[in-house]
Amino acid sequence: MSDSTFYVTTPIYYVNDAPHIGHGYTTVMGDIITRWHRQRGENVWYTTGTDEHGEKVLRKAEANGVSPQEWVDALVETEWKPLLQTIDAANDDFTRTTDQRHLDGAQAFWTALHERGAVYKGNFSGHYSVGSEEFVGDDDVTAGEGDDEGFMVSKLDGSRVELISEENYFFRLSDYQQKLLDFYDANPDFIQPESARNEVISFVSRGLRDLSISRSTFDWGISVPWDEKHIFYVWIEALLSYATSVGYGNDRERFDEVWPASIHLVGKDIARFHAVIWPAMLMAAGEPVPHRVFAHGWLLVGGQKMSKSKANGIRPDELVDTFGSDAYRYYFARALTFGSDGSISWEDINARYHAELANGFGNLASRVAAMIGKYYDGSLPAAGAPTAAEQAVIDVVFESVAAADLAIEKIAPQDALSAIWRIVDELNGYLTEQAPWKVAKDAESSDAESDRLATILVTAAEGLRVLAVLLNPVMPKASAGLWHSLGAEPALGALAEQRIDGVAAWGQLPAGTIITKPASLFPRIEAPAE
Ligand code: ME8
Ligand code: MG
Repeated sequence: MSDSTFYVTTPIYYVNDAPHIGHGYTTVMGDIITRWHRQRGENVWYTTGTDEHGEKVLRKAEANGVSPQEWVDALVETEWKPLLQTIDAANDDFTRTTDQRHLDGAQAFWTALHERGAVYKGNFSGHYSVGSEEFVGDDDVTAGEGDDEGFMVSKLDGSRVELISEENYFFRLSDYQQKLLDFYDANPDFIQPESARNEVISFVSRGLRDLSISRSTFDWGISVPWDEKHIFYVWIEALLSYATSVGYGNDRERFDEVWPASIHLVGKDIARFHAVIWPAMLMAAGEPVPHRVFAHGWLLVGGQKMSKSKANGIRPDELVDTFGSDAYRYYFARALTFGSDGSISWEDINARYHAELANGFGNLASRVAAMIGKYYDGSLPAAGAPTAAEQAVIDVVFESVAAADLAIEKIAPQDALSAIWRIVDELNGYLTEQAPWKVAKDAESSDAESDRLATILVTAAEGLRVLAVLLNPVMPKASAGLWHSLGAEPALGALAEQRIDGVAAWGQLPAGTIITKPASLFPRIEAPAE
């Protein structure tokens, strides 16, 4: 495991508009998972980026009276890259489909498939959804209702379709129906969760038609090298960005080192592209297929899928400006079940911020530091012999670390956070029961009580050390503040260097470590505006 690369991707997002928290969601989850794997000591590569070609982006640029290139350049710089700062993502790469490396790689890929006979020329006549950039079979089209009255819509996602008729190149996708079904059978974890897997299998079981891979009625795309009247259909070049960004078509050695991807994180809206078209393309090219595609659910706002086209999107900075990036990351990981749809609300973020972060965790960190400051002048004492109460804390820590690690392995960050929060709750309960402020009253006159006081505070500090490490992938800023407050760096090294598999080992902070009061990790937010 350690010399292969743990390569994780987000979808590359359309730059028809600015990002909303749905895009932030996928990117934050990928960021949490990859930061965790880095702290497992793995060789991680995490990529996000933008999908810039196609009719949807072209029409948006035209509507704004600018060229598509000007449109995407501006939006990528002013909105999509800044999103990553806003949500504190530590991606290793940002890939754009207008990059030269992508253009070269995509052309090389399809030239190879053309030469192998996997591509032929034909005429496409049928429905196309510009909204989802998808060819929609006649069986999957129906008359729209309500707002869509008078239009035909796709049964696959409700988007409006248009009738098009043009000369296209086709990929022999139909050759892959049985190969894909066999592949899903042999690799039950390839597409997760179960609901997405079932949907994909039933879609493929109904039969696969050959896929148009080129368009010839507009030119915002990558040109087909053997026939310059055509550009590639946006999806079949966008999927390739996962490969072209790690060397496909320009650095074979790098590609072989990183590929196949470990996890493609996607929303369930695009599971089919990733679990059907993409593996078929790779099979046709003789390249390895990704290990896993994980399709998460939708963020619902007022019961509806939040989307750019419905213009009900909340910008990530609207939440981050009030709650900070740590709480933002925590909220989406904790409050929703990754893989299911979930509703979010301002009230819920606000409530969890105060109950779980400010009172539960932040207050714990500041109380422990304050007591070590008050009773020991900020210098960590040496612990006495542990009693059953300390052993109970140590046991919870061991169990929680193992449970959290397993949950991340299963791509269930909400379960990882529940496991970590057992430690927060355990430490709070432990302090309430042990009442070090009472023990302190007798500590001056009794050696035994003085020993107890030291043991209690060292146990709490050790618990905080574990929390700083485990929460670093989720809340890097607060964890850095806590690590600093614990004075841990001189003895233990940088926070990012702490390994998950070693974190539960007890008694790492040496006596004499200088503990300082942390800057308020989660200050109360007064009367939050809606
Ligand atoms: O589909 N809830 O880009 P896109 C949760 N360019 N996640 C959401 C969401 C919501 N309400 N809305 C969007 C594309 N997302 C293609 C991808 S990949 C080779 C090409 C997230 O801008 C989720 O990850 O429409 C979803 O899959 C993605 O944004 C769609 O972004
Ligand atoms: Mg979309």
